[in-house]
Amino acid sequence: LEFMPGKQVGLSDGCWPDRLIGDLPNVYLYASNNSSEGTLAKRRGGATLVSYLTPPIANAGLYKELASLKASLDRFRQTEGVADPELVAMIQTQASALDLCAAEPAWADDTTAQVAQVRAKLLEMEYALIPLGLHVVGEGMAEQARKETIAAIRESAPLEMTEADYAKLDAMLAEDHEIPGILRALDGRYIAPAPGGDLVRTPKVVPTGRNLYGFDPYKVPSAYALIEGRKRADLLLARHTADGNAFPETIAFVLWGTDNMKSEGTPIAQVLGLMGAAPRFDAVGRLVGARLIPLAQLGRPRVDVVCTLSGIFRDLLPLQVKLLAEAALLASQADEPIEMNFIRKHTLEHMAALGGDLESAALRVFSNADGAYGSNVNLLVETGQWNEEDELADQFVKRKCYAYGAKPGVKAMPALMQRALGGAALAFQNLDSVELGATDIDQYVESLGGMNRVITKAKGEAVPVYLGDHTGREGKVRTLGEQVALETRTRMLNPKWFEAQLAQGYEGARNIAGHVATTLGWSATAGSVPTWVYDDITTTFVLDKAMRDRLAAANPNAAAGMANRLMEAHDRGYWQPSAEMLAALRDASEELEDRLEGVHAVA
Ligand code: BEZ
Ligand code: MG
Repeated sequence: LEFMPGKQVGLSDGCWPDRLIGDLPNVYLYASNNSSEGTLAKRRGGATLVSYLTPPIANAGLYKELASLKASLDRFRQTEGVADPELVAMIQTQASALDLCAAEPAWADDTTAQVAQVRAKLLEMEYALIPLGLHVVGEGMAEQARKETIAAIRESAPLEMTEADYAKLDAMLAEDHEIPGILRALDGRYIAPAPGGDLVRTPKVVPTGRNLYGFDPYKVPSAYALIEGRKRADLLLARHTADGNAFPETIAFVLWGTDNMKSEGTPIAQVLGLMGAAPRFDAVGRLVGARLIPLAQLGRPRVDVVCTLSGIFRDLLPLQVKLLAEAALLASQADEPIEMNFIRKHTLEHMAALGGDLESAALRVFSNADGAYGSNVNLLVETGQWNEEDELADQFVKRKCYAYGAKPGVKAMPALMQRALGGAALAFQNLDSVELGATDIDQYVESLGGMNRVITKAKGEAVPVYLGDHTGREGKVRTLGEQVALETRTRMLNPKWFEAQLAQGYEGARNIAGHVATTLGWSATAGSVPTWVYDDITTTFVLDKAMRDRLAAANPNAAAGMANRLMEAHDRGYWQPSAEMLAALRDASEELEDRLEGVHAVA
């Protein structure tokens, strides 16, 4: 669909998707957590969706050194009151080896607080939710996986779920509903509708095998989203301040379709909350535009928010694109002191620097050209076809510099976009779903990473990058570095996670290798990957002979590609392994390449 010219909605026989598909029925199997892309498939491709389940969810749990540290912490708890200095020293040694605290200076005062901090970090890892393996269409979920998934749902689902509901969730997960759904669709029969969403927060996505529906665009952001969005705005500002930063004048913000669809537009409301704006609804409750919240009520300056939208967001939520643009315009026009209204302040500065009228200088919403999607920064990273990081920034600007205003019409405004992003004090995106972490898929590098690289280039220095994790009931803001570390420990290096992937053969091995490429993408776009991540990945997956053989047997391309990625990370200066590790990596890489050639020769 991406490369087919034509409208996003209401296709006519002049649009290519319509011309190509003609009278053919279009049945499209879609993940139950991806209603945004699914909705595009319906609108542009006339698709009937048949939903399939995402993988089982479980607590990450602890393993190896993390489990040993936990044992020491338990011992500390038993002897509380009589802090044993040897035990405290051991905890610091174990924790610092895992990069959970500094190795020096040795903890002396307030050791209980230091130990408590380590305990909090370990608990976050132990109870982090992770996806296990891949879902296989046609197979119900196994008993142990159901048990863990339902435990995760208990942590995240709406409180009004009853025990009877859980027993019903359980029965539906045990059984396959997808093959019957596909067969019904192929028979040309009715497919019942289902909401899209994350299983843990929206258990109503089961039974799968149904046709995903979206939402009423005139109701987004909802009253619930406005409350939640304001909380998220405060949470982000509080975290940024707690990290020792001044109140931000500008925030660079990525908006996707999916997380907005699953939360009635909460990220949109978060942006409005930062700006001190709100939606305006007409007498029958239909969204008609934006309004400003008076400064006296807001009680702080209006933050200038520069939004970069996925092409999917732009297509799915045109009213909300206009809402955001109108909020920026109204704030730019407001007769308010500039030290309380950073949007107006910057609009006046952009006008002075770039010329043009106030309406143009007030543009803050950027996305792709009509009909195009993605920044392609992830594709550059994937193919390695780039030399300088600045090329990644330029690619992002080229693809994403299209400014969307309060009035119809789109204009390429690369200079304004770079100026506006160059003023950002931080970059931010909400995480979408437990199944899709910042290292699981490459689209966060594509959007948040690419945008961040533009900030770094335009500003001449790096800014903090934050992710909002609202996939559970309790929201949390983490730095990108913290998020990458957490995901690396709980997913990539966690036997529970990688064994579940390996059990799926070539696709699981491909997923493991994909994580390494995405990790490299974070180094390239944000430089947020600590050395131990590359060290431990190399040790676990490449230098361990048995593991290397298993990966190569499952997917020789993925195994060789992974070793090459790690060498690339070193070549590009993102990682300095020891000389011994580098030599061992080189040998392993050559062996994997030889193996690949052997495979090709046989083929
Ligand atoms: C979106 O919904 O906007 C989206 C989904 C997946 C990847 C990128 C964007
Ligand atoms: Mg796709």
